[in-house]
Amino acid sequence: MHSAPMRTIHDDVEEVLLSADALADRVAQLGAQLSADYAGRDPVLVSVLKGSIVFLADLIRAMEIPLSVDLMEVSSYGSGTETSGQVRILKDLSASIEGREVIVVEDIIDTGLTLNYLLRYLWERNPASMRICCLLDKPARRLAEIEIDYTGFTIPDRFVIGYGLDYDERYRNLPYVGVLRPSVYSSPSEE
Ligand code: PRP
Repeated sequence: MHSAPMRTIHDDVEEVLLSADALADRVAQLGAQLSADYAGRDPVLVSVLKGSIVFLADLIRAMEIPLSVDLMEVSSYGSGTETSGQVRILKDLSASIEGREVIVVEDIIDTGLTLNYLLRYLWERNPASMRICCLLDKPARRLAEIEIDYTGFTIPDRFVIGYGLDYDERYRNLPYVGVLRPSVYSSPSEE
C-alpha cells in the first residue's frame, strides 16, 4: 500500500531568506556581543511570546554570563494582520525588573507599535537600563520610531515565517526564515 507523498511546511515556502546556518552564525555573534557588553551586570532578558521563543532559546545558549529570563505575552487589539498600537497584556512579568538591566528580546519589529507600547510599560517598572535585541528589523513598515540596540538582520518588506514566526500559528517550527507563498494567504483554502 502506498501512502500519499507527505506534505510538509516547506512546501509553502517561496524562498529561504535566512538559512539555519546564517541564523546560527548571527545569533552566536549577538550572544558574544551581549556577553561582553553585560559582563558582571546580571541582565534579565525579557522576551515576548510566542514568536521570540526560538530566537531566545538560541540566544541565551550563545551567552556565557549569568542572566535570567522572563516572558510576557501581548496581543494587539484590532483584527487581521495590521497592528493597531493598542496592546493588551496577556501574560505579565513574573518578577520585578526594578533596578535590573533589561534586554528586551524580540523576533521582529515591523510597525514598531507593539514594542513602542511595551517599552513604555516596562520603563514604568523602573529598570536600571533597557536595551532592545531584535532578530529581524523590517523598517519599511515602521510607524513608531524605535532605537534598536542589537539587530540580527534587516529584512525587506516580505511576509516572513519560520524560526518562531508564524502565519496563522503555523510555520514556527521551520528551522530557517522563509518567505510565505502568496497563494497560502491570498487564495481560498482548498479544504
Ligand atoms: C509579532 C512580533 C512582535 C510584533 C511586531 O508578534 O513578535 O511582537 O508582531 O509587530 P509590530 O512591530 O508591527 O508591532 P505577533 O503579534 O505576530 O504574535 P506572535 O509573536 O505570538 O506570533
